[in-house]
Amino acid sequence: MLNMNTLTPFAFLLLLGLVFGHGKPDADTEKEPVMTKEEIKSLRQALKEAREKPQVPYVLKELTIPETFENGEKPKIFTDEELAKHDGSNPDLPILLACKGEVFDVTEGKDFYGPGNAYNALTGKDASRAIAMMSIDEDEMTPDLSGLTNAQLEMLDIFWEGTYKSKYPSVGFTQRLYDEIQQKKKDEL
Ligand code: HEM
Repeated sequence: MLNMNTLTPFAFLLLLGLVFGHGKPDADTEKEPVMTKEEIKSLRQALKEAREKPQVPYVLKELTIPETFENGEKPKIFTDEELAKHDGSNPDLPILLACKGEVFDVTEGKDFYGPGNAYNALTGKDASRAIAMMSIDEDEMTPDLSGLTNAQLEMLDIFWEGTYKSKYPSVGFTQRLYDEIQQKKKDEL
């Protein structure tokens, strides 16, 4: 038999806990299950259907070529050759890049875009695909957006609006975008 007088208060409390606590159902395990089997089954089915449903393609924010800029100047149309001169290698020329076909003067950001700096590969060209993918891989340095995911297209819009349009002066548009818009106009007639 246990002699209560020999028990320290701590051991006594422990013993009480064991005696009265033992066998009591755990509060957590007593709870009703959060979901029934039926509910889990129908949730699984709904997820499966959502995955199989064709995704609504993300539509890029509209970009139009204005007749004149706010300062009254006509936007310049850049051929690939013209744009390529503006990759920062010639210190007498502004550093330019195109995003979604709009050409921005990023000379102010030369710590990003100057020769030898992190994003120099994006200059002197329209590398919208690389911007959308956040990649500086040579193969992605193209304006071709085919096969990109909605998230990547959205990222492109975020850079176009949030970085380029808000931080740098727009100086013109690429010949490619100009031709595309002209073609669309013809097709709509
Ligand atoms: C380890 C990976 C990276 C880190 C830590 C990083 C970090 C940053 C930071 C901190 C800024 C903001 C700078 C500022 O506004 O002061 C920035 C801007 C930017 N990043 Fe990155 N970046 C990374 C990769 C990339 C890649 C792979 C691309 C490829 C397209 C990229 C494209 C850009 C662009 C376009 C900007 C805007 C620059 C500007 O304001 O003109 N970044 N990055």
